[in-house]
Amino acid sequence: SLCPSIYYRPINPNDLYRLEQIHRDIFPIKYKSEFFRSVVNGVDIVSWAAVDRSRPDDHSDELIGFVTAKFVLAKDSEIDDLIHYYDSSKGEETLTYILTLGVVETYRNRGIAMSLISEVIKYASGLSLCRGVYLHVIAHNNPAIHLYQRLMFRCVRRLPGFYLIKQQHFDAFLFVYFINDS
Ligand code: ACO
Repeated sequence: SLCPSIYYRPINPNDLYRLEQIHRDIFPIKYKSEFFRSVVNGVDIVSWAAVDRSRPDDHSDELIGFVTAKFVLAKDSEIDDLIHYYDSSKGEETLTYILTLGVVETYRNRGIAMSLISEVIKYASGLSLCRGVYLHVIAHNNPAIHLYQRLMFRCVRRLPGFYLIKQQHFDAFLFVYFINDS
């Protein structure tokens, strides 16, 4: 609409259909229905939705953007070597791994993705054992790379052939935002 009124809220089971639809529309990778069920039910996954309350009633709570993330043990992660470990934490340090981030096309370039990622960082920063937020991004996705750089994520790795899409391999960048003194 002309004057959007963007709100952020947790994702819930009513979002299932729209969440799947947007993922299908904007990602080249296919996600299993089990993934979407875990997201909407909050099983081992945290997520935020963006909605535009200025839309007509039946759309005012409909997803226009989302971010999904899960927690992993730092010592079991692929960036284990980048984390400083303290004896007092007994190896229980965690990382927040961003699985998917998306904003529907008509709502892009308004800072919505930036706000969604900020929610993840804010949440992760409140977890005393969480040492960082990290993610993979396909090497040619300039808007996303630009966004992570703007948010002070650090590109720590290039992973050759990380993604397989329609039988073609693509490199990924691994970005990390360190928190809680890593
Ligand atoms: N007004 C105008 N522009 C703004 C405002 C504002 N109020 N606030 C921020 N911006 C600018 C940002 O600064 C940035 O550009 P700039 O640095 O040149 O100024 C630009 O808008 C983009 O930032 P956002 O608006 O926060 O990003 P957006 O909401 O458009 O979403 C995204 C970016 C998620 C990459 C989107 O393009 C998308 O959904 N793409 C397809 C899916 C995708 O690629 N997802 C990421 C894959 S990686 C992963 O999932 C882990």
